[in-house]
Amino acid sequence: MKILIINGPNLNFLGKREPKIYGYETLEEVNHKIKEFGDRLRLKIQFFQSNHEGYIIDKIQESYESVDYLIINPGALTHYGIGIRDAILSTNIKTIEVHLSNVYSREEFRHKSVISDICIGKITGFGSEGYKMALQYLSNLKK
Ligand code: DQA
Repeated sequence: MKILIINGPNLNFLGKREPKIYGYETLEEVNHKIKEFGDRLRLKIQFFQSNHEGYIIDKIQESYESVDYLIINPGALTHYGIGIRDAILSTNIKTIEVHLSNVYSREEFRHKSVISDICIGKITGFGSEGYKMALQYLSNLKK
């Protein structure tokens, strides 16, 4: 099973960025942990991060018919990135939405997601464990 994990704007700043909300782990450390977990589940994982919506759209389009699932934390683009929504719809890649923080316990503008309704499901508020939870779910589908 091939899985693409995309992180959007400002997630490259994990560890430095508002650590009380997002934790002290860097994105590199998070990805390392996810990779180890994925290896144990025999999943093939590719990682991508960009601060630019267009690059994220390019990456989703490139992955058309070459990945089985997408796990995405679109960062702030979650709330208004219609281009990302359209890329997911265009490629038909089955997607899980992940957020480190619990978006529902934060500002109201974070309660709205432009992709939730086209995703398999959404994991929010479990920190970087959320990516592993998504992988575990996908791995269980194989059984
Ligand atoms: C986030 C939540 C978003 O509202 C925010 O803009 C982010 C990170 C999260 O992982 O909790 O950049 O997606």
